[in-house]
This record gives sequence, structure tokens and C-alpha cells, in this order.
Amino acid sequence: MRLIRLLPSVMAALSAFVGSGAADVDPIVIKGSHFFYKTNGTEFFIRGIAYQASVTADDTTNGTDDYIDPLTDPAGCKRDIPLLKELDTNVVRVYAIKPDEDHSECMQMLADAGIYVIADLSQPSQSINRETPQWNNALYARYTSVIDSLANYTNVLGFFAGNEVTNNASNTDASAFVKAAVRDMKSYIADKGYRKIGVGYAADDDADIRQQIREYFDCGTDAERIDFFGLNIYEWCGDSSFKQSGYADRTKDFADYDIPAFFSEYGCNAVQPRQFTEVQALFGPEMTGVWSGGIVYMYFQEVNNYGLVTVEGSSVSKLPDFTSLSSQMAKATPSLTNMADYTPTNTKNAACPTVNAAWQAVASPLPPTPNKDLCSCMTQSLSCTAKSNLSAKDVGRLIGVVCGLSESACAGISTNATSGKYGAYSVCDPAEQLSWVFNAYYLEQGKKDSACDFSGAATKQNAAKSTGSCQSLLNQAGSSGVGTVTAAGATGKVAGATSKGAAPGGLTHQAFLGGFGLSSAVQIGLYSVSALMTGLLMVLL
Ligand SMILES: *[C@@H]1O[C@H](CO)[C@@H](O)[C@H](O)[C@H]1NC(C)=O
Ligand SMILES: *[C@@H]1O[C@H](CO)[C@@H](O)[C@H](O)[C@H]1NC(C)=O
Ligand SMILES: *[C@@H]1O[C@H](CO)[C@@H](O)[C@H](O)[C@H]1NC(C)=O
Ligand SMILES: *[C@@H]1O[C@H](CO)[C@@H](O)[C@H](O)[C@H]1NC(C)=O
Ligand SMILES: *[C@@H]1O[C@H](CO)[C@@H](O)[C@H](O)[C@H]1NC(C)=O
Ligand SMILES: *[C@@H]1O[C@H](CO)[C@@H](O)[C@H](O)[C@H]1NC(C)=O
Repeated sequence: MRLIRLLPSVMAALSAFVGSGAADVDPIVIKGSHFFYKTNGTEFFIRGIAYQASVTADDTTNGTDDYIDPLTDPAGCKRDIPLLKELDTNVVRVYAIKPDEDHSECMQMLADAGIYVIADLSQPSQSINRETPQWNNALYARYTSVIDSLANYTNVLGFFAGNEVTNNASNTDASAFVKAAVRDMKSYIADKGYRKIGVGYAADDDADIRQQIREYFDCGTDAERIDFFGLNIYEWCGDSSFKQSGYADRTKDFADYDIPAFFSEYGCNAVQPRQFTEVQALFGPEMTGVWSGGIVYMYFQEVNNYGLVTVEGSSVSKLPDFTSLSSQMAKATPSLTNMADYTPTNTKNAACPTVNAAWQAVASPLPPTPNKDLCSCMTQSLSCTAKSNLSAKDVGRLIGVVCGLSESACAGISTNATSGKYGAYSVCDPAEQLSWVFNAYYLEQGKKDSACDFSGAATKQNAAKSTGSCQSLLNQAGSSGVGTVTAAGATGKVAGATSKGAAPGGLTHQAFLGGFGLSSAVQIGLYSVSALMTGLLMVLL
């Protein structure tokens, strides 16, 4: 079921550890398909609440960071934590963190209350877009900045690398980019020497693709798969039952899952006020073997009518939903397994879904790891580049123009999640990508002056001779930009020569000009094929 909400995808995360003097809580660890307190090994079931006022659509289109990170508002935390405790809350989910602001006070208050945080890594204007999916330097910087800001807090339970990104059979390719983000954030956490904090994905509950999504994110190597699965589920409406609601079927779906699964959002509001009778099922014997609890959507009352409380300034009023959730939670007493007594029986990652009309993302290879060094080495090495004063709109339009003129010039920046072919420069900023395609086109045209112009948007430069680590990176990317760059990612460190040689030659060039029927799985940088075609027609007319 799809939710009607102000903003389809908002998420967050947080963590806390306030230097000296702060009392750390016991971190939550994962064993098999369950969560446990690290020290005493008691099983941990998520009694969560989604805790963030919605970002409005206006905020998103404004392109600003207008969203409110509730974990940077100590007065709000102080106001709300006692109410969260009345609901037996032990997890809050925050959808959009502000990494540059101070989280220490809220994180400490939450820790003192025994409350953990699951934070989404994206924010409304910096997330993997399901229509034009990318995994690039800018998103990598955003995601890692959230991890850096929260990793020290021991009451951070985990991060979500995406929320309902693929939400229809028409945008399944986007999941490849989310999974690349999962892979890179897991490796970032390890490389930085942070505590082992899980990285998961929160899916919607779409009958057409739920099986593939469940399998895709758990398949392949441990380095690539998620650490836990979140399902945003709104199947239990009114006073339903385990069978009638669909919960029984969903529980069957996950019976063999080898990692923790929980409801990353629940609480259908089709029948109001909500009675939350599903709480007894979720924490009862039919479900606790498979599910690790869930997160009620949501704390704040807004126009979508999912709130538990109404907040005005410093005052909070409980809504009827609050009262019923509170009494249901008080009655929920799952039986707890101790970690030492638990031997996981599901020990295999899922099999990867078949790629076909219903699922358009191959599990391997995934999109490349962003790499800022690669992109700056590349732009220095070019003989024809984009002028630096172009507007974002012009950059986008001109990429469309060049890719319309020559598909091969664009191979280095294009992505195809269905074939698993990704240009090495698909991770670069749009302006860098434009420079790459300008230069590739110029070379294809035998370096004619007129081929490096584009009405004054392109200009020639003296290409710097690449040496050392730059040369190694560029060798890996190959002359057409479709090689596999294996040197370290966007952290600024460039690994030594792991030269895998030049790109495989003989790219299969599809006649782009004849390709009006291109699959939606094809992306050229930020621009969808239809935008490219518009650009092309504009230039030809
Ligand atoms: C284990 O620790 C957690 C938090 O530190 C606590 O809530 C729980 O009651 C403990 N379990 C037991 C069996 O004492
Ligand atoms: C959009 O941005 C402008 C300029 O920063 C600001 O004045 C305005 O309030 C913002 N709109 C919303 C809805 O936040
Ligand atoms: C996290 O802890 C490390 C080591 O104590 C410290 O260097 C770093 O600044 C801390 N980060 C934050 C965001 O507090
Ligand atoms: C969802 O996917 C189906 C099948 O690909 C397609 O027919 C439909 O138009 C898509 N819906 C939206 C809203 O994109
Ligand atoms: C960019 O700079 C060039 C000079 O290098 C100038 O001719 C052009 O008008 C500028 N374009 C914009 C959009 O400012
Ligand atoms: C993307 O890859 C798929 C599978 O190989 C292929 O069918 C499709 O034509 C490709 N798209 C383009 C534009 O090359």
C-alpha cells in the first residue's frame, strides 16, 4: 500500500557520545536475524517511533536545507522524551540529519532514556532519485558526513541508505545505486575504524516487486548486502488479525531471511482513531521469531493525520492514538532469547533476483564507488573542457546535446543498471561530466576547433600530463571511461597502482540517434533519456 504523505522520502539517523563524562549506552549488535544488547546479550526488539516533523514539498523544491533535524533541538528532546518513554520507546527513526549541527545534548538525553537512533543518510534535496538514479561524489559526501556526525554515539543502532527509492516496477534500476551506497557506507564505517554500525534499506510494500527487493538487498557478498531490512508496511488497518491483515504472509516471506527484518514504518490510519492491535501480533510468538519489532509512523501530528501528539511550541497534547499505542505497548511482552543461546539457522544470503521485465537491476557489478580524485585527475587531463561559469541548467542541457550527437562520447558518464555497465565518470559532478563529454566529442571529431565550442560553452586547455596516482586512476578508467576504477573512494586517499589495465575495448555502441525506444534503465548522468532527446532535438532544429 502506498502512503499519501507530504514528502515521499525523508529519513534520518543519529548517534551520541558526548566526549568525556557521557554515559554510553550498551551498543546493539546483530547476530543472525536478531538484535541484542552487546554486554548482557538480551534480545532487543525495536519499539520505535518515527520522530521528525515532515519537510514540506516547498522545502524540497527550494533546494535548501530547510528541514528540521529534531536531534539538534534539545528543548524539543526534553519536551518529547518523557512522552516517548510513556510509549515504551527504545528507538527513534530520524529521516534527515543535519551533520554540521550539534547532536550531543539530544543524544545524551536519549541515551539516558535508553533510546537508540536509526538515522537515514539522505535528506530531501540530497538523495538517490528514483527517476534519475545516481551514486556520485556529492551523495557520497552527504552520506559520509552523516555517519561522521553520529558514529561516536553508542546509541546509534543503524543507518538507512535509502527509503522507498524503488517504489514501482518502472524504477527498479534505482535499487542498484542504493545498493552501491550500502556497500560503500559499510566499507567507510570499517575504514574509519568506527564501531560496527549496520547499514540497511527501508522498502515500501509493493506486491509487484516485494520479493525482488527483499532478495536483491540481501544477495551477493556480505560486503555488498544490507545489514538489516526495514519494511514500511500499512497492511493492518483497524482491528484486523494476523491472517487477515497480510502479516502472516509477510512473515512467511521473511521466514528464511538471514539478517534482521523489522517494520521501518507501520500504523495504517484508514480506521481512526488507531487502536494499534497489531502491536500484540508484532511482539507475539507468531512474529518475534522473524521480526525484530517496528517503528510507528509517527510522532508529530500533521495534515496526513499520522500523529500521536500535537505539538505547539513547548506544549504537547496527546491524541487518542497515543493513548491506545501506550496501552498496547504496555501489554507487549515478547519472550527474549539470549544471544548465547541462539544459533542462527538461516545462514545464507538470499539468491539474487532474476533480471527480467519486472526487475531491471543486476546484482553485480554495482555502480562504481565515487572518487573525487578520479574526477579532478580527469578534468586536468582534458584538451577541451566546459567553461566554469555555466549554469546548472546549461550544464544539463549541454550534456543532453553532446550525448544526443554521440553515444560513444557519453559512455564514460552513462549508466545501465540492467547490463551493469557504468561509466567510470558517472560518479563525477555534472560540470566535470560535461567536460568529459565535450573532450570525448572533440577527440572523435579529430580535434577540429569547431568541435570544441558549443556556442562558447566549451574551451580548449593545455592538458596536464598525468603522473603517479592520477595516471593510475585514469589508466583504470581507460580512454573511453568505462573501466573499473578500484582505487580508494572519495575519501581523498588514492591507493597505489592497482592498475587493472585499460578499459575493455569494443564497447557495444548502440546507435543512439536511432534509439528512441531506449529503456528507462538507461541514465546519462543526471539526465534521463527523454531530457537528452529534448536536448538533441533542440540542437538539430
Ligand atoms: C540488558 O541490558 C539492557 C540495557 O542495558 C537492560 O535493559 C536489560 O534489562 C538487560 N537484561 C537483563 C536480563 O538484565
Ligand atoms: C525558500 O527559500 C527562501 C530564501 O532562502 C526563503 O525565504 C523561503 O522562506 C523558503 N521557502 C520555504 C517554504 O521554506
Ligand atoms: C569522535 O571521536 C573521535 C575520537 O575520540 C574524535 O576525534 C572525533 O572528533 C569525534 N567526532 C565527533 C563528531 O564528535
Ligand atoms: C509502474 O510500473 C508499471 C509497470 O512498469 C507502469 O505501467 C506504471 O506506469 C508505473 N507507474 C508509475 C506511477 O510510474
Ligand atoms: C562566461 O564567461 C565568458 C568569458 O569567458 C563570457 O563570454 C560568458 O558570457 C560567460 N557566461 C555566463 C553565463 O556568464
Ligand atoms: C541497457 O542494458 C540492457 C541489458 O543489456 C539492454 O537491453 C539495453 O538496451 C541497454 N540500454 C542501452 C541504452 O544500451
